[in-house]
Amino acid sequence: MNKATEYAIEVENLTKSYGDLLAVNDISFTVGKGEVFALLGPNGAGKTTTVEIIDTIRTPTSGKVTLLGMDVTKYKHDIVHRIGVLPQGFTSFDRITVRETLQYYSRLYHCRNTDIDGLIGLVNLTDKRDEQYKNLSGGLKQRLGIAISLVNDPEVVFLDEPTTGLDPRARHEVWQVLQGLKKAGKTVLLTTHYMEEAELLADMVAIISRGKIIAMGSPVELIHNNADTQILTLQSADEKVFEIVRRIGFEPVHTNHNNIRIRVEHTEDVQQILSAIKDAGSFYRGLDVRKPNLEEVFLKLTGEALRDGYVEGGEAE
Ligand SMILES: Nc1ncnc2c1ncn2[C@@H]1O[C@H](COP(=O)(O)OP(=O)(O)O)[C@@H](O)[C@H]1O
Ligand SMILES: [Mg+2]
Repeated sequence: MNKATEYAIEVENLTKSYGDLLAVNDISFTVGKGEVFALLGPNGAGKTTTVEIIDTIRTPTSGKVTLLGMDVTKYKHDIVHRIGVLPQGFTSFDRITVRETLQYYSRLYHCRNTDIDGLIGLVNLTDKRDEQYKNLSGGLKQRLGIAISLVNDPEVVFLDEPTTGLDPRARHEVWQVLQGLKKAGKTVLLTTHYMEEAELLADMVAIISRGKIIAMGSPVELIHNNADTQILTLQSADEKVFEIVRRIGFEPVHTNHNNIRIRVEHTEDVQQILSAIKDAGSFYRGLDVRKPNLEEVFLKLTGEALRDGYVEGGEAE
């Protein structure tokens, strides 16, 4: 099989500078056809810059990017018909209905046979199809945006932070739509700072921080490769436990409901902690030991949080 048919996207040593700022710093990856690939990283990591170079909106400083076998700097006109884009922070025309919006975008792409109602069904907006854009909730707006990205029946779809700012329920509804895209065989390049989203949807994840890819693999591989760490949670611990654990050299973190979370390297560490608590006559109501999730892998690799306001262990309880 030649490379042009094997991969939907090939990025080789891609760099992008804005003046003195190296926003994307020598990154390389490939996305297979039909694969969902997630760029996972915090604000400013270089996700949008990377995506918008691949989808031909921005121009690279150096490196080579090939989309469906075509150099993205040379074949913009051919590429545009074969891709769909949901830009970060997408908005549309306030007073135009869902159906009219899709009809309009379909005409922009010169598509004669877009199945508008089929698309509306795919993103679960059938009962909202005559609603104006301004009356849709955030999640419904994003689902319309995904439908817009599909009007030309693209082979590769770029979704830049499709669920940022949505409440958990709306996010889950967008995830269902994205799982539908995957089933339909689309190649999807997704950016996100929700590790749960990457874990659930992506075949491959590249963790990106300050313009560099610092780890790449399937969600399972990423977690496995960083599984030297375990997460011990002590439930309903009394107030002395925190200090006891700290005194013997660990870094406990308070989470909800008097729970304490401790990152440990070995099983013996768990035994040492439990003995120290017992010897001091303190108590806890229960415990569990588990592998880190992608968010914790990210923290370990970068020392930075994926989102503002994220507190380690603060959300998982
Ligand atoms: N057009 C631009 N001009 C100058 N700096 C930019 C431009 N676009 C992005 N940047 C900067 O490049 C870095 C990466 O931005 P971006 O690609 O938007 O990251 P992300 O999508 O991961 O949040 C940030 O420091 C951002 O401020
Ligand atoms: Mg961005």
